Amino acid sequence: MGLNLRNKAWIFLGIICCSSLICSVKAMVTYDHKAVIINGQRRILLSGSIHYPRSTAEMWPDLIQKAKEGGLDVIQTYVFWNGHEPSPGQYYFEDRYDLVKFVKLVQQAGLYVHLRIGPYVCAEWNLGGFPVWLKYVPGMAFRTDNEPFKAAMQKFTEKIVGMMKEEKLFETQGGPIILSQIENEYGPIEWEIGAPGKAYTKWAAQMAEGLSTGVPWIMCKQDDAPDSIINTCNGYYCENFKPNSDNKPKMWTENWTGWFTEFGGAVPYRPAEDIAFSVARFIQNGGSFINYYMYHGGTNFDRTAGEFMATSYDYNAPLDEYGLPREPKYSHLTKLHKVIKLCEPALVSVDPTVTSLGDKQEAHVFKSKSSCSAFLSNYNASSAARVSFGGSTYDLPPWSVSILPNCKTEYYNTAKVQVSARSIHMKMVPTNTQLSWGSYSEEIPSPNYNGTFTKDGLVEQISITRDKTDYFWYLTDITIGADEKFLKTGEDPLLTIESAGHALSVFVNGQLAGTAYGSLEKPKLTFSQKIKLTAGVNKLALLSIAVGLPNVGLHYETRNTGVLGPVTLEGVNSGTWDMSKWKWSYKIGTKGEALSLHTVTGSSTVEWKEGSLVAKKQPLTWYKSTFDTTAGNEPLALDMNTMGKGQVWINGQNIGRHWPAYKARGKCERCSYAGTFNEKKCLSNCGEASQRWYHVPRSWLKPSANLIVVLEEWGGDPNGISLVRRTSKKIASESIFSG
Ligand code: GAL
Repeated sequence: MGLNLRNKAWIFLGIICCSSLICSVKAMVTYDHKAVIINGQRRILLSGSIHYPRSTAEMWPDLIQKAKEGGLDVIQTYVFWNGHEPSPGQYYFEDRYDLVKFVKLVQQAGLYVHLRIGPYVCAEWNLGGFPVWLKYVPGMAFRTDNEPFKAAMQKFTEKIVGMMKEEKLFETQGGPIILSQIENEYGPIEWEIGAPGKAYTKWAAQMAEGLSTGVPWIMCKQDDAPDSIINTCNGYYCENFKPNSDNKPKMWTENWTGWFTEFGGAVPYRPAEDIAFSVARFIQNGGSFINYYMYHGGTNFDRTAGEFMATSYDYNAPLDEYGLPREPKYSHLTKLHKVIKLCEPALVSVDPTVTSLGDKQEAHVFKSKSSCSAFLSNYNASSAARVSFGGSTYDLPPWSVSILPNCKTEYYNTAKVQVSARSIHMKMVPTNTQLSWGSYSEEIPSPNYNGTFTKDGLVEQISITRDKTDYFWYLTDITIGADEKFLKTGEDPLLTIESAGHALSVFVNGQLAGTAYGSLEKPKLTFSQKIKLTAGVNKLALLSIAVGLPNVGLHYETRNTGVLGPVTLEGVNSGTWDMSKWKWSYKIGTKGEALSLHTVTGSSTVEWKEGSLVAKKQPLTWYKSTFDTTAGNEPLALDMNTMGKGQVWINGQNIGRHWPAYKARGKCERCSYAGTFNEKKCLSNCGEASQRWYHVPRSWLKPSANLIVVLEEWGGDPNGISLVRRTSKKIASESIFSG
């Protein structure tokens, strides 16, 4: 449905409006039990999530175009509060956060928008989208019936709705936004906390509706969504979902096309056949809106990733992290969308008649006066079935749905993939086989050193850094008196440190003694290691490193990061020392950050070691080099496999955290799509880096002399870093399995 048409319809309604006393444009987007109704027409809507800050503005037109060619009607996105309001009242809508531009590009492509304002978004995004400063507003309690929280949430929601209205972006104004969302999956939280949760849901719904956008609001996973707000389903399968009123359509806001990757986790994927099956089943059961979460996952650039989330947010989506179609997934779903559109007239006209065709086989038939479409399904995960329908026989592979847009001819079966798969390669860019690096060793600070402050006891990290940096130093002196005579047994003493997360490097007298780190499942960590101390004053420096803030749940106001203790030293003559209450000095960030070493101008403020003097496998080292861009438009990435953990900047742009040293745990078993997929993710990459390649957007590059700066926390060999091109090549069609 092209935009011109819709504009005309709106103008047409506008004329009616002006000549009528009961003037209302609200009728533009409504709904009934069957579907969302746009301009008086029930629609089967196919939607896909593309989160604007997870790609560059230069990538948006191509991503949107590919989504359109993939047969989508709608682009769904969250709105990322912490990207838009980095400090209270200071708004930012530029560059990757240019929401208006993104929405307008979708409009220009003739697609609709589903705007999930949240403003809690989860989304594997830092603090679920909440600005960190919100944590420190007095009296704050997140996502509950709390005045400071509600006031802030309302202010931001109003700000976004106001901007959209001003730019005339709601459908009622001739714009592309047909749906909005308030909160996100609050239902389960509400059940957990009871009365205040219920009050908050009611408030959120009323607040949203009070903003009069003219388009319906959605609350996903919210069984008690009040009034006219539509409750929707999220999950791998939603065929049995029922909205909470007979007047609301059956909508699926998140059909997970894969899953996110966490550092230390295997890389999940979901076969195309299984997604297609889930979609066909939802539609045959009366569903009328499906959104792929994600259609394009993209990249968690900078420090936007949630706790322990990898920088790649590829998600095994139909468009890969780099924006290339993932085959056969992209094309298999494109074909499905075309067939569904052929069925649309029947689907929106009548409810289906369901008949059994066998033990685990059914026919869902939508037959109206003028149209007939049928879905023949086989829910048996292990065996194929031959069924009779309308006087013909049909062969249904296991776990599949055949679609007959005219109730006769099978146009599509979800398990018959008739698309060539493509193999993806990361090829070294020839001109950049070996970069020439300079190195700068970060200083290990001491107590009372420049820029430190002192306190009794241990402090929580984010309350001090306000998340402006991942890095926070805890510094103290351990004085071993002559009478300690080193330690009772003559052995080295045992230092034990409990941290709320996420990673810790321990330096004793300027030398790295060891590291420890948590995981998404268990962010807390314990460092427990014997350390070498000498008589006299020993310098202890703990570098606590945050790896994103949690994005799931509630009570963000109570979440902690950093060394909260206890910190103990065992094995000294005078007994175990509890160092938790000692005087500690603190320092925010690294020296390199303070000098802006990652920027084009800042990088020349220090002397870099070169040639044979370049540090290798040394902790806390900055590296810099320059490289030329390769011609062409294939996406580019950095192969970081020889590095440990840290961050990378290209021409001053933070491309994200690297952590190839964190290998994927667990065992990856080959996963067949048929049935076994049920809620069990298919995994790859076990034993290898959770993430080896890091996307370098082309628009961040100049033709030559691009500055690359790496902060390496653990120690690595920069000579192994290379720029690679992502290429894809057609391979033989695989009809049984697609990863
Ligand atoms: C959902 C949530 C999304 C995202 C997804 C997992 O529960 O609504 O925002 O976090 O899980 O990728």
